[in-house]
Amino acid sequence: MKYLALLLFLTPCLTTAQMTLREAAAQRSLLLGAAANADEFGIPNRLADQQYAGTLARHFNLLTAENAMKWQVFRPTRATYDFGPTDKLVSFAAQNRRAVRGHVLLWHNGVPDWLPQYAATASPSDMAGLLEEHIRTVVGRYKGRIFAWDVVNEAFNDPAGSAPVTLRDSIWHNRPGIGRSGTGFIEQAFRWANQADPSALLFYNDYSIEGPGPKFNAVLAMVRDFVARGVPIHGVGFQMHLDINGYPTDAGFAQNMRQITDLGLQVHITEMDVRVRVDNRGNATDRDLQLQAGTYERIAGLCLANPKCTALQTWGFTDRHSWVPGVFAGFGAALPFDANYQPKPAVEALLRAFRSVPPVLSANAIVNAASYRGGAVAPGELVTIFNARYGPSTLRSAVLTPDNKLASEVQTAKVYFDNIPAPLIYAVAGQVSAIVPYEVAGRAETVVQYEFNGVRSNTVTLPVARTAPGIFASDASGKGPGLVLKLDYSVVSPTNPARAGDAVLLLATGGGAISGGAVTGALAPSSGQQSEPVTATINGVPAEVLYAGPAPGLVNGVLQVNLTIPQAAGTGDLPLLLRVGGVESQTGITVSVR
Ligand code: G3I
Repeated sequence: MKYLALLLFLTPCLTTAQMTLREAAAQRSLLLGAAANADEFGIPNRLADQQYAGTLARHFNLLTAENAMKWQVFRPTRATYDFGPTDKLVSFAAQNRRAVRGHVLLWHNGVPDWLPQYAATASPSDMAGLLEEHIRTVVGRYKGRIFAWDVVNEAFNDPAGSAPVTLRDSIWHNRPGIGRSGTGFIEQAFRWANQADPSALLFYNDYSIEGPGPKFNAVLAMVRDFVARGVPIHGVGFQMHLDINGYPTDAGFAQNMRQITDLGLQVHITEMDVRVRVDNRGNATDRDLQLQAGTYERIAGLCLANPKCTALQTWGFTDRHSWVPGVFAGFGAALPFDANYQPKPAVEALLRAFRSVPPVLSANAIVNAASYRGGAVAPGELVTIFNARYGPSTLRSAVLTPDNKLASEVQTAKVYFDNIPAPLIYAVAGQVSAIVPYEVAGRAETVVQYEFNGVRSNTVTLPVARTAPGIFASDASGKGPGLVLKLDYSVVSPTNPARAGDAVLLLATGGGAISGGAVTGALAPSSGQQSEPVTATINGVPAEVLYAGPAPGLVNGVLQVNLTIPQAAGTGDLPLLLRVGGVESQTGITVSVR
């Protein structure tokens, strides 16, 4: 085991200076994407261009289609579909282990010429049938391969001063629409998409909602209504088409994101580009490129500061292929890579954000590693910390120190309780498991902090309890069959049930102090005894506790309880509860008795 520890320390740690955007984003458990093209509109397949495909594969772990998934490409005629370009993009993503966002199922733009002609004489029910068939066909075809969809894009009008913003007239809303009033056409599109792929995350996407104002208010009102009525919406896409004039402000975008994520939804930055003035050769000034870099860094930092901002996508990635010059005369150079695929200051700026923005620690994301219950922590309790989105890009397991204790650092990830480094069970970006040091025993509360790559999170304060018991589930889900072993160490399950009178052992944590003391992070040398009384019931019937203490050979903090299955418990998958120091373990854990 010692040599393993040594080998792990020898693992080459990429410095962020050498990292690609993709590697740096992985340490933030952030999906970093770009809109891409294949061979839609008859263009040469960009994915066959080594520079294009290579840059896309090397720097991004997410992609969307700039145009391939729009009606304009998908639907050459009312009777036919063209999935070619999208199939190429989805295959490219799969080959490069990348996620795919779908863009866009319902939009007033990006449509083939036949559609508005059809809408001119169609009835609302004709349009409803057409839209339903489109959504079910497209979402169904890519079910399980496109993890999130922009279901509806830009359904609200641009703001006019401070006046309330209304829904845009469109063939889908009211010209003739699909026979639904108000936002009903949007709701219906979400419901059809959810039926076609229940696992896909469904987003409403728009621009000019990144800062406070009437357009964001209109979107927020709709989203609140949808959430309240159980409409299957999972997030809002902020397009983020910017220039270097400071919109949105930090406070404005953070506030708008929070109002969406406080509803339990996610935020994706879906189409970021930062246009700057260019000369007739498409070149920008160094000053403007530095201001552009600052804008990319600022927005990325704001996204990282909200754990529910889970994706950042640019609209294209190289200035060689960008919509901006064709729409904003005199502007261009809006993307992180130049027309020769060379990184601009914006790339280093994004890397700077990824390596320096502090991870966010929240009290309710620190839970018992067995039960996933939050709240007070107990000395020796194995806990799991979620959402501290800065850590190893791949799962790194515990490291043993030369004196056979769990190290308090795993690839620079550290957790402190009252500035005491805690032993770590594992660490990966977004999820770290640590052991509450026994030293916190007797304190009313403890201050928790997380650190990675030398960057410390905010601190949170948690109450300290004598015990906070949780039983490990056999599938680590926190519920269902408990991690209960027969004396032959086979796992008790519905297919390997225990019998009345059998002695079994279960593993838990949160049992609190050990009589005679215990060394934080050390492997339990032998059996011992909990300081607090331990009782157990199965199906409400008291079960005789034969042993309750450290699990010999496992790290201190794992609580082993040996008990006898009571005759009166009956048979079936029976509720199993511990009570340690008067505190009950979580409900929902069972033990199979036949
Ligand atoms: O190049 C072909 C041409 O060969 C063909 O004859 C013609 C047929 O209409 O199409 C041409 O392709 C154009 C395509 O851009 C490639 O340049 C399409 O006409 C044109 O409609 C398309 O514009 C796209 C626009 O959405 C409308 O779909 C832009 O590329 C794309 O960047 C832009 O992206 C939108 C997002 O989807 C939504 N948010 C705003 C964003 C910017 O407008």
